[in-house]
Amino acid sequence: MAGNSSGPRDTWGSKAAFILAAAGSAVGLGNIWGFPTVAAQNGGGAFLLVYLLCVVLIGAPVMLAELAIGRHTQRNPVGAFRALAPGSAWVAVGALGVVAGVVILSFYSVIAGWTIAYIFKTITGAFGPGADTAAIFAGVAANPTSAISYHLLFMAITILVVVGGVRHGIERWTKVLMPGLAALLLLLVFRAVTLSGAGEGLAFYLRPDFSQINGSVFLAAAGQAFFSLSLGMGAMITYGSYISKKDDLASSALYVTAFDTAIAVFAGLLIFPTLFHAGLEPGAGGPGMVFVVLTSLLGTIPPAPWGGTIFGTMFFALLFIAALTSSISLLEVGTAYMVDEKGMSRKRAAWILGITAFVLGIPSALANGAVSWLSSLPGIGTDFLSFLFAVFGQYALVIGALFISIFTAWIWGTRKAAEEVRSTDGKFPLETVWVFLIRFLCPIAIILILINLVQSLM
Ligand code: PHE
Repeated sequence: MAGNSSGPRDTWGSKAAFILAAAGSAVGLGNIWGFPTVAAQNGGGAFLLVYLLCVVLIGAPVMLAELAIGRHTQRNPVGAFRALAPGSAWVAVGALGVVAGVVILSFYSVIAGWTIAYIFKTITGAFGPGADTAAIFAGVAANPTSAISYHLLFMAITILVVVGGVRHGIERWTKVLMPGLAALLLLLVFRAVTLSGAGEGLAFYLRPDFSQINGSVFLAAAGQAFFSLSLGMGAMITYGSYISKKDDLASSALYVTAFDTAIAVFAGLLIFPTLFHAGLEPGAGGPGMVFVVLTSLLGTIPPAPWGGTIFGTMFFALLFIAALTSSISLLEVGTAYMVDEKGMSRKRAAWILGITAFVLGIPSALANGAVSWLSSLPGIGTDFLSFLFAVFGQYALVIGALFISIFTAWIWGTRKAAEEVRSTDGKFPLETVWVFLIRFLCPIAIILILINLVQSLM
């Protein structure tokens, strides 16, 4: 039952199914891989504090704005802006989202490919006590054949799910497995915080060093919040377009935001104690840090080696599925655009965009040791994957979110947006708070963050 321009639009089966699907989009590598990586590079506790502020004050209101735009227009991001502001340049914001979706998908699939490789590694007991987890990571990610094959495999799976359409593809996966991921994460956190040296890691993560808070921490935190919540590129506009008029938008936005943030915070509770236990440096890790650190935890799970094998395999299997429910939303944005606006079949659109993202992802797959200049870009210093993550996964989303908040507040208007939120049952409890945040706080805070970025580049 694929949505297309002629038939009635596909909708989610129920409110719970929508929340799970949106949470499925939000929860993914951004939480388990991105959040600890960015937190480690930005001072730990200081970052966590600023991150939580960004989620509550900017993330949650933008989430509701995107859902309202989507449900009101029942369209993909380009079509949504076209419907609300016909003939204006606002469609460019939707187009930026479509492009960002494909580029993010390109490197996202590389990391997600590693999770597939790690399912095989863990199941064969590769991470016993004392395993050289850094060397194992290099074997997966620095080997070009392995890195590209897993990237290809993950992309193919993503395309096949998106071809299946909303109800039968996305919904079925998320419903079962999201709660499983949360439960397993909690179990692993329990192991991590009882390791020797865990206290130091917890202090790094939970005790903010206020002297570390500066403009670049705010930028990193805001970017990470948008990435993790799937905001700023129209994924939630697209998912919102499949919500039925019967479902309550405000509480859905809050649930999704809270669930996503809880998973990221748990991931930090898992990674930082383990990192300090293993005697590693928080700031030093690139994109592989989480894989190296996490697997060093597995050797400590009794009874060795079975404990680590069982928990490790389950963990990577669930992480793979969390990544899949996010990657399908990345591909869904462009697919919905091609189906709605260009009249293409869902199948054709998903294949064209997915193959494009696969090809674009090849340099990212080679950027973790396989090709040396891609692994440390001349003049930039970081690897190509981290570079794309910063530019498209973070800055582009911050800019997208800025435009979405300005659009909702001042072009479409908070009165009409609030009407859409209220249309279910006449209620919108935090309306005045939301109106204040989306009109003033979100745009001003994001503009300040961007000014700071521009200054730091000069
Ligand atoms: N939120 C997803 C994650 O945390 C990534 C994503 C970003 C998905 C933007 C859709 C849009 O893994």
